[in-house]
Amino acid sequence: MLIKPPGPKIPWLAYAALYRDPLGYLTRVARKYGDIIHVGLTGRHDFLLNHPDYIRTVLLDQDGLRRSVHRPLQRLLGQSLLTTRGRIHRQQRALLQPVFQKQRIAALGEVMVQQTVRWSEKWREGATVDMEDEMTRLSMSITGKTLFDVDVESEASEVADALIKVLSATRFNNLLLASKKLAKLPLPANRRFQHAAKRLDQFIYQMIAERHAESSDRPDLLSVLVRTSKEKPRLMNDQKIRNQILTFFVAGHETVATALMWTWYLLAKDPGVTEKLHTEIDAVLGGKLPAVADLEGLPYDKMVLAESMRIYPPVWIIGRHAVRDVNINGWVIPKGSYIHVSQFLMHRDARYFPEPERFDPERWRPEAIAARPRFSYFPFGGGGLQCIGEGFAWTQAMLVIGTLASRWQMRLAPGPPIELEPQLTLGSKYGMPMKLERRHRPTS
Ligand code: HEM
Repeated sequence: MLIKPPGPKIPWLAYAALYRDPLGYLTRVARKYGDIIHVGLTGRHDFLLNHPDYIRTVLLDQDGLRRSVHRPLQRLLGQSLLTTRGRIHRQQRALLQPVFQKQRIAALGEVMVQQTVRWSEKWREGATVDMEDEMTRLSMSITGKTLFDVDVESEASEVADALIKVLSATRFNNLLLASKKLAKLPLPANRRFQHAAKRLDQFIYQMIAERHAESSDRPDLLSVLVRTSKEKPRLMNDQKIRNQILTFFVAGHETVATALMWTWYLLAKDPGVTEKLHTEIDAVLGGKLPAVADLEGLPYDKMVLAESMRIYPPVWIIGRHAVRDVNINGWVIPKGSYIHVSQFLMHRDARYFPEPERFDPERWRPEAIAARPRFSYFPFGGGGLQCIGEGFAWTQAMLVIGTLASRWQMRLAPGPPIELEPQLTLGSKYGMPMKLERRHRPTS
């Protein structure tokens, strides 16, 4: 008989509470039951692990544990880096890894900054904008330009709309797409989703066809995929290219956008940190636009971003499915179980981050980092399934912060209270209304 770790006594109540308020409920059960928690219902076992050592075991175990992907997202993406397993995943990872090498990303810095400048040219002094929407569309245009060399925004903002619609249909609590049968019903929500998904596919397949027709070779992700499909047709075809492209759009834009939105929010609430950031940016850049070479000289920019992703981790939970029994600190987690580790819980654990809700970039001084266990902080996961876009994300987000904070100051605008909305990423329920003010740099 399975000896189970402690956990809620009435499982269906636990699942219902989790569905209603995942962050609040997980926080409460972690406080009540500790570092390893079990909940089970008619043959299903779920475990929540909440200790850096256990998280290390889970993230580094690639053979016994497989990524479990939210079903609607899996259905949308098909086979891609995010959804495949084992040998096929390793093959795809090896193929795509070179695109994310440090030098390749460094070469994309200029485009990231240009896109940001172009974007902010639309901004007007005193205007109120929804920073969630602004950062989402900016991030989408950067992903489009850097990875596929397409102008998502100017060529077809209709495509951006379609992507946003498709993504919102993959939300956690969307029961329609979670079931194959329900997804086929002729309901308005299903029709809207199918229409947006079709438009997105037309756009992506057209992009692929145009690249096939080109004679010259480019170094971006799309060209690598198209070249592979010519050289190794068994490994890559147009449908597989479509799946990878959509995966990179999905995994790459909303995550960075969320990190940036919460960073502007935290800065707007903390004039002291904002002033320190401005001082660093003004001293290093002296009014010019940032480049990748400047990032070494902007440690506070990085500390602010790291602290923002601690309090508001864009990916707030990671799931695994056990394909064999797994041992965690003497407990046997049986084959077939689901295991969850949550950045939201771990990053706000007072054992490692005292006064966890306080925004304090000083936590990211090298000596403070060295004093904490590695897996007390894991915004990008770890091990063989670690985020392939981590370097890309840091570079993009730091450059966007440097570019915008040297010219603009974002203030919170009146609106509904800011409430968290845990979907695929950690969003804000009612957006993020912010007022834009031009900065007047002190002249030295
Ligand atoms: C702040 C931004 C980002 C965060 C917080 C983030 C977070 C993560 C996390 C936690 C995982 C691992 C999930 C797991 O272990 O199951 C992951 C995987 C992945 N991410 Fe990111 N990500 C970010 C940006 C990006 C960007 C910019 C790209 C692409 C340009 C990207 C592409 C991917 C892909 C393709 C995977 C799957 C990797 C694999 O399985 O080999 N991500 N990301």
